[in-house]
Amino acid sequence: MKCDFVIDNSAGDCGKGKVVYSLLKNEKYTHCVRGNGGDNCGHTIYHNDHKFVTHNIPAGVFFGLRSIIGPGCVINPKTFMQELTELSDAGIDCKSVKIAHNAHVITEQHLCEDADDTKIGTTKRGIGQAYRDKYARTGIRAQDVPQLKEYLCDFYEEVFSASDSDTFLYEGAQGFSLDIDHGTYPFVTSSHTTLAGALLNGLSYKHIRKVFGVSKAYDTYVGAMKFQPDNNPELISIQKVGKEIGATTKRIRQCNYLNIDTLIKSLNVNGVSDLIINKMDILQQVNCWKIIVNNEIIDLTSEDNFKSYMNNIPTIVSNNIKVIYSYSEKNI
Ligand code: IMP
Ligand code: MG
Repeated sequence: MKCDFVIDNSAGDCGKGKVVYSLLKNEKYTHCVRGNGGDNCGHTIYHNDHKFVTHNIPAGVFFGLRSIIGPGCVINPKTFMQELTELSDAGIDCKSVKIAHNAHVITEQHLCEDADDTKIGTTKRGIGQAYRDKYARTGIRAQDVPQLKEYLCDFYEEVFSASDSDTFLYEGAQGFSLDIDHGTYPFVTSSHTTLAGALLNGLSYKHIRKVFGVSKAYDTYVGAMKFQPDNNPELISIQKVGKEIGATTKRIRQCNYLNIDTLIKSLNVNGVSDLIINKMDILQQVNCWKIIVNNEIIDLTSEDNFKSYMNNIPTIVSNNIKVIYSYSEKNI
């Protein structure tokens, strides 16, 4: 069995949903897996001219693939069931959706506690509290919830009884700057958003084929940390033109120029093989080609210069990385 991974190089919202969808459409996968976070994420997917925003269920469901919520995830049974109903009502066949029996459950108590958060600016989905209880060894797992019984699977069996010709696609959630260890702590989420985090679900390095690292041509962040400098008309335009509003919480995403230092760290730590830079058309429309290197803004002045700079990054990282640019909202 081989697995391709889609992970995010920034603070989420770089278009993983779109990348995952086009890979599922164009390549032959047999399984699709989520392995970190819960319904804090919102993956925007256009399928048969409908816009879907999925929070729990891997995008493999749109193609009838075995779509697994892995052991590294936390799951809110209520929003999971709601999502199943919504997808089924829209004509999507959900019988291939599975949950690892040992994924942890987000409880009403977790939601109550997270509702009071003002410090981090969480999505208020009880994510931190569910992971806290998991590590305190006081958590409840999917196998303990009768309602989830019919969806349970053993992720070890999924992986190690797969045939040689099976191919998995791992759909990451959140992004490198939100990683519990590598991100801008404490303004992070409570899971591992890296390739290593993906493997923690029960995959081996021997399964790794490609690692798609998804970026946007500029950075965004949602939460309590100050991220966007005040009174910068360019960044305000990027927010408006890029329609940078949270898919889950509808909050306005703070915008800044693409931070190259963070990008390089993510490429290194994740061993990215293919770097995808989404939403290039937004910088075209705003006509702004700035980046941040070592805390300084560098104006690359044109799209050509921007691309030359980005095309050179693989030589800095000394990996053999393919750089792919993406323009429209809907297709790669
Ligand atoms: P939590 O994951 O809800 O605890 O939120 C922690 C931080 O991660 C907050 O700043 C959230 O806005 C951010 N966050 C969590 N999930 C996502 C996501 O899918 N996209 C973007 N930001 C997210
Ligand atoms: Mg998102």
